[in-house]
Amino acid sequence: MVEKTAEIIDGKAFAEKLRRRVADAVDQVQDAHGLTPGLAVVLLGEDPASQVYVRNKGKMTKEVGMASFEHRLPEDTTEEQLLTLVRGLNKNDEVHGILVQLPLPGHIRAERVLDAISPDKDVDGFHVINAGRLATGGADALVPCTPLGCLMLLKDKLGDLAGKRALVLGRSNIVGKPMAALLLRENCTVTIAHSKTEDLPGECRRADILVAAIGRERMVKGDWIKPGAAVIDVGINRIPAPEKGEGKTRLVGDVDFDEAVRVAGAITPVPGGVGPMTIAVLLRNTLVAACRQAGIEAPEI
Ligand code: GUN
Repeated sequence: MVEKTAEIIDGKAFAEKLRRRVADAVDQVQDAHGLTPGLAVVLLGEDPASQVYVRNKGKMTKEVGMASFEHRLPEDTTEEQLLTLVRGLNKNDEVHGILVQLPLPGHIRAERVLDAISPDKDVDGFHVINAGRLATGGADALVPCTPLGCLMLLKDKLGDLAGKRALVLGRSNIVGKPMAALLLRENCTVTIAHSKTEDLPGECRRADILVAAIGRERMVKGDWIKPGAAVIDVGINRIPAPEKGEGKTRLVGDVDFDEAVRVAGAITPVPGGVGPMTIAVLLRNTLVAACRQAGIEAPEI
């Protein structure tokens, strides 16, 4: 008998298509209104993973025809210096989106910095105003990029999500909470589970849609998954990979892919699933923010 395996959700291909649609829309607003959307990214310190993200953001911003502004500051930058930079970017008319790369060094209060970003330029969707707009169902919220990317993949695969049982594993402000709000907005029946949830496997097994964003490598096992469920794996965990050679590593998700792929109906791989969506959605958010600031309708993307 041929073993059944889940359909693989190709986030890399979807993100490429989304970036192409954003690039076309940027051409349109440039031609029609002389508007060049601009994205400013601020990075403090030398964290290698953050440096890779920021480099990729800058490259892809330029590829879609937007203006890219990079501010790399030393690790010992003070909170006041960072706030002064953010306030300057708020006033800069060439900048329509501002992203301060997280995590920030320990001496800086991230909430103070995120809330100093103008809500209209908050393309990360982390400002309390945007979080509040999303929580109250407002369609005009700027929505955090990773959960919005997950939702796009789910709608592309499943169509209408209304009435489906969704379980979000993880309750962070960056992924879990906004993901739950988005799924609720789609009329799912939403549960948020976390490290203190009783009978986590049982809760997961009830879900038609399972979004794992808990940051624990391969925690979700095959027998936690309802047969045929859609599984979105937000986790990016680096583990040793001695099979690739001494000292080598590889990336795995929060879901045990090899087990889950035999049970789920559809699943995102790691890498190549949710990861590539984040920057593509960031570019989409920047376009939307730029059009709103210019008082023009954003092209449909
Ligand atoms: N660090 C890791 N992911 C993100 C993100 O989506 N936005 C910001 N600002 N920092 C991050």
